This record gives sequence, C-alpha cells and structure tokens, in this order.
Amino acid sequence: MKALNLFPLTVAQDKILIDENERKLLVDEIIRMQENTNTNSEYAWTGDTKGYEFLFENKIFKSISNKISNTIIKYLQLLEINTKLLDIYYQRSWATYTKNKQSINFHTHAQSNISFAYYLLKPPKSGGIIFRSNELQNEIAKNIFTNSKLDKSLINKPNAYNSDRSMFDLEQDSIIIFPSKTLHATMPNQSGEPRISISGDISIMLKDSDGFEHLMPNFKNWTKF
Ligand SMILES: [Fe+2]
Repeated sequence: MKALNLFPLTVAQDKILIDENERKLLVDEIIRMQENTNTNSEYAWTGDTKGYEFLFENKIFKSISNKISNTIIKYLQLLEINTKLLDIYYQRSWATYTKNKQSINFHTHAQSNISFAYYLLKPPKSGGIIFRSNELQNEIAKNIFTNSKLDKSLINKPNAYNSDRSMFDLEQDSIIIFPSKTLHATMPNQSGEPRISISGDISIMLKDSDGFEHLMPNFKNWTKF
C-alpha cells in the first residue's frame, strides 16, 4: 500500500559555519549575561526572560545574525513564499544556556511567525529539541498516538505517521527553523557541559498590503493612538 502524506509540518535544518574565534567571543558574551542573572533552577537560562531579549542589537552578533537571515530566507523559499513581497524582522533574539540536567518545558512562541534555534555550543548528549502536536491528522481515535499507547503495545512502533512528538539531536552549528506556533521543548542536558543556543522570533509583514486580506499590513501604515 502507498501512503500519500498531506498537510505536513516542515521543520528546516541547515548548517552555519563560524570561525572558532567568533564562537569564543559570542560564548564568552553569553556566559557573562548568564552569570549576571543566573538563578539555579532545573530549567535552562533563557535570555528572553532575563533582560537579554534583543541579542542581535549587540554588534558582535551581527555576522551570525546575517547568516541566520540567509537561512530564514531559504526556509521561506522552501515553502514557496515570495520573499520579495515581505518585510522580515527579528522581533526578538536571545541566547539559551543549559547546564547539566537542565531542560526547557514545552512552549510555543505564539506572538511571532517563524522561530529558530542555532546551536552555538552543543556537546554530544547535551539534549535535543522535541516537537509535539496536539492536532494529529492521523489521530483516528482520541490520544491513540500518545506515548502510553506505545508502552501498552497498541502501537507497534513509532513513526512519522503515528507520533505526537519527534526529537532531533542536532550537532553544533546546526540551525533548526519552524513555525512559531509549533510546540517544542528540549531534552535534559546529559553531557556534563553547558549547551548554548541562539534563538529568535521572526515577524513577517507585507511591504504593500493592497489587495491582501490576511497577512499583516506593514506597521509603517499603522495608526498609533
Ligand atoms: Fe522556544
């Protein structure tokens, strides 16, 4: 039998190579931020909630942000979206710092369109990213594809057709790009060393919204009150 797969969620993966001197510069800067505001917790330090939500305003992140911008354009092109009609903004950008045993719970970035994580420092076994869906197209009975059904042998083996989650443990210098509305979390760091990612949320809007109903009109045309 042939499976015809419709309406996929596409998560894009790419690589961004950087100079080791640049990596050290960025890592040291992120460690400084983290040490300034660290709270010991079972959860990772995430700069967006610690006063460091505009990382790309810092000049030393200019080169990496330009490289990330190129991959975001490629992601939009993968979806056959005409980027020439769009203005694209990083609405915020931040670092995450995950110590041994720390993780990040499931969440979405509902206020934006596209989100990404770039692994600036990623020792082996330092924790992958998990995506989850609560609206599975193939869910023929409620919760039939949750983990517990696997434990009870109702599901023979997990695959892309029958899973409510999928984990990617990418190597250092990988970037992963996904719709901001997608639920995601990170696995606990089990490497004994810190893991550092650079994350960001991206808003897209029309350069000219004339004739378009749904996508955001350019904020330059908005009226403030
Ligand atoms: Fe996130």
